[in-house]
Amino acid sequence: MTSGCTIRDLRAADRAAWDRLWQGYLDFYKEDLDPAISDLTFARLIDEAHSFFGLVAERDGQLVGLVNSLVHASTWSRHGYCYLEDLYVSADARGGGVGRALIEAVYARADKLSLGRVYWVTDKDNTTAQTLYDSLAKRTEIITYRR
Ligand SMILES: CC(C)(COP(=O)(O)OP(=O)(O)OC[C@H]1O[C@@H](n2cnc3c(N)ncnc32)[C@H](O)[C@@H]1OP(=O)(O)O)[C@@H](O)C(=O)NCCC(=O)NCCS
Repeated sequence: MTSGCTIRDLRAADRAAWDRLWQGYLDFYKEDLDPAISDLTFARLIDEAHSFFGLVAERDGQLVGLVNSLVHASTWSRHGYCYLEDLYVSADARGGGVGRALIEAVYARADKLSLGRVYWVTDKDNTTAQTLYDSLAKRTEIITYRR
C-alpha cells in the first residue's frame, strides 16, 4: 500500500477501467490511436507469455493509474532491460504519490527479473513528469532519434 493505493498486475477484468485511463493518456499526447492497437496492447499486457507487463494503481476499488513496460534482451546484459513506455495517473489522483508508486513497482519487477536497467523517455517540456523522475532516476544526455 502506498498513498492509499495498491499497485498490482493488470487483469482481463480491468478492461473498461483501463480504457478510461488509456484514453486519458492518449488525449494527453493528442494521439488518435487505432482502437485495434489498443485491443492488441491490452491483450499483450495481460498475456504472461508476452514481453509486455502492465501494472495499475487501485484505490477504493477504482483504477487511478497505469504503467506499461516492456522487457527486452540487450547485448550489454545477461537478463535484459526494462523499457517503461507509458505512465499515466488520472487528473484527480495526481500529486499524491501514485506515479512514484507505479515507477517503484516497475523497479521491483525489474529487480525480481534481474534486469540490468529500467529506462524511459519523456518530452523535454513535460516538467511535471521530470520533477518526479529526477527524484527517482538519473537524467541522461542521450538523444533519441527515430525515422
Ligand atoms: C507524470 C504523472 C504520472 C505523475 O503522477 P503523480 O501521481 O502526480 O506523481 P506523484 O504524486 O508520485 O509525484 C511525485 C513528485 O512529482 C512532483 N510532482 C507531481 N505532480 C506535480 C505537479 N503538478 N507540479 C509539480 N510537481 C509535481 C512532486 O515533486 C512530487 O514529489 P513529492 O512526492 O515529493 O511530493 C502525472 O502527472 C500524469 O499522469 N501526467 C500526464 C501523463 C504524463 O505526463 N505521463 C508521463 C509521460 S513520460
